[in-house]
Amino acid sequence: MQSIFNYIKNNKKTVAGAVVAIASGIAIYKYKTSIYREAEKWLKIDKNEETKKEVKELVSKNDTKGLKKIFGQRLSFGTAGLRARMGAGYSQMNEITVAQTAQGLVRYLEEQFKDKIRELGVVIGFDARNNSQTFAEISARIFASQKIKVFYYSEPVPTPFVPFAITQLKTAAGVMVTASHNPKNDNGYKVYWDNGAQIISPHDVGISRCIEANLDIWEIEQIDLKKNPLIVNLIENQFDHKYYEYLQSQLPTNYKSNPQTDRKITYTAMHGVGYRWFKKACQACDIQKIEPVKEQVEPDPEFPTVEYPNPEEGKESLKLAIETAERTGCDLILANDPDADRIAVVEKSHGKWKFLHGNDVGILLAWWLLMNLKKSNKDIDPSKLLMVSTVVSSGMLSAFAQAEGIRYEETLTGFKWIANKGFDLEKKGFHCVFGFEESIGYMSSLIVPDKDGISAAVLISQMANYLAGFGMDLTEKLSRIHQKYGHFIFENSYFFCYDPVTISSIFNKIRNDGNYPKFCGDFPIKFIRDLTVCYDNSKPDLVPILPCSKSSQMITFTLDNGCIVTLRTSGTEPKIKYYIEMSGKDDPEKIRSILDNVVKAVIENFLDPKGNNLGERK
Ligand SMILES: *[C@@H]1O[C@H](CO)[C@@H](O)[C@H](O)[C@H]1NC(C)=O
Ligand SMILES: *[C@@H]1O[C@H](CO)[C@@H](O)[C@H](O)[C@H]1NC(C)=O
Repeated sequence: MQSIFNYIKNNKKTVAGAVVAIASGIAIYKYKTSIYREAEKWLKIDKNEETKKEVKELVSKNDTKGLKKIFGQRLSFGTAGLRARMGAGYSQMNEITVAQTAQGLVRYLEEQFKDKIRELGVVIGFDARNNSQTFAEISARIFASQKIKVFYYSEPVPTPFVPFAITQLKTAAGVMVTASHNPKNDNGYKVYWDNGAQIISPHDVGISRCIEANLDIWEIEQIDLKKNPLIVNLIENQFDHKYYEYLQSQLPTNYKSNPQTDRKITYTAMHGVGYRWFKKACQACDIQKIEPVKEQVEPDPEFPTVEYPNPEEGKESLKLAIETAERTGCDLILANDPDADRIAVVEKSHGKWKFLHGNDVGILLAWWLLMNLKKSNKDIDPSKLLMVSTVVSSGMLSAFAQAEGIRYEETLTGFKWIANKGFDLEKKGFHCVFGFEESIGYMSSLIVPDKDGISAAVLISQMANYLAGFGMDLTEKLSRIHQKYGHFIFENSYFFCYDPVTISSIFNKIRNDGNYPKFCGDFPIKFIRDLTVCYDNSKPDLVPILPCSKSSQMITFTLDNGCIVTLRTSGTEPKIKYYIEMSGKDDPEKIRSILDNVVKAVIENFLDPKGNNLGERK
């Protein structure tokens, strides 16, 4: 005994090292076995051969790191639902995580709606990605197994068809299986509430809690989606016809196609779901001259002709569309994203293809919708109408609304905010006639309380055809709108930044412990609103009106010269974005040159891309 103590005394370091090594060995062993136990558990519950194979391979290779990646954490459920890569494990989109999510959603809806949920039911739709249909079917079966009615789109549909069905059928909720314009290996699960808008807090937290509490996969009876009386098939019932009726109700009075002057329009669905429904919508709404981009109008989960299936990417993703337009003599291009909730517009004006910015299309649609409302309803009271856009969209809509005597509201980015603002004010007697955000999303009423790329495509076609009757294109109309309501000139762009520490340091340097800068370069700063730390020095109590959130960066400067500068981080991408806009009544060239100088000052003084090693901007 004595000799052991002596040994320890004389070899303290070695012994301590051995103890640490043994302890960490045990920890690694425990950790390893727990991850392997998770994998074993998974293999018992997973019925999908592909995802099972992935896990088996990782186990047989003793790939602890790989297993940790997929079993070490759960994909998080937020107001945008789920969005992740498809693959095995709890951190990815697959049959198990989707079933767990549907189970949690069932329990949360039961909490919220009690017994009424069974009759109210839910809407379920899916896009044309790999596994979207399977994920939708799994969800439909889980709902039906709990005797909840399911209004089911049994074929791929545009995302806006789900919120439309919710408002028309008055269901308790809706699910859309889609990853919109994400890369082809991703999928997602979007959840809507009973008003048809995407869920907002506290439902995200509530659903998340119920998912965690219902992780064990339920044993449910066989449910035949074709025969079960709880499943109402919206495709077989031709529910889409109701949607075209809705579009017709928005038609301008006396709208008729005119073979002499109508524009020839190229349409692409970007390998997504849009074409089948847009074609029918055109028939219903008398839009005649559509040329599809043949390679891109049928759904294809491989998105073979584009690197990113996102029409917002511009030239790259719209190359085939421009080729088709050139070949077929079209001078207008409409491009839906793959789930057809957004739309890009490209116009050939004076011989040159021009990408209309989301802000441009937004103001054009506002003008078009208002003009038609006034025509079809002579006694309309503009002060009871409402238009909504977001903090980073052009201030032009606000100026337009003010000039027309219309109520305008500004929200944070995202249609969950836009739609819910609309509902709040409809309760107070307003009628929400338009909402949009610069990232090419448009909402033309609360019948579809979300962005809707099909209704926007129809409205833009009609507007373009109407204007063509006067020999005017969209670009020309836009410039007339500018002349009447003011020139709004903006520059929006971003830098890549993959390092969260750099991002924090950039924003904290601006914050400077509450001593915000007085100048941006030579430009005096009048107001600062910091929605991350909840500060706004234009308000007497220094508290902003818009909701704050610590989880993302967002600061807006109002310069003395009226220029508005917003810097923010993207929730989903490694980017620092900036939105800078200058407006005025006179000389657009002068406004542009001031804007250019402000942009330069912002980049040099606040972002310092060289010093901070930021990736190249678009
Ligand atoms: C994995 O680990 C087990 C036991 O720890 C071992 O028997 C096996 O040979 C290892 N396999 C590989 C491929 O390294
Ligand atoms: C989609 O599924 C098919 C058939 O299983 C497969 O060959 C293809 O690689 C998958 N593609 C993607 C993007 O997951």
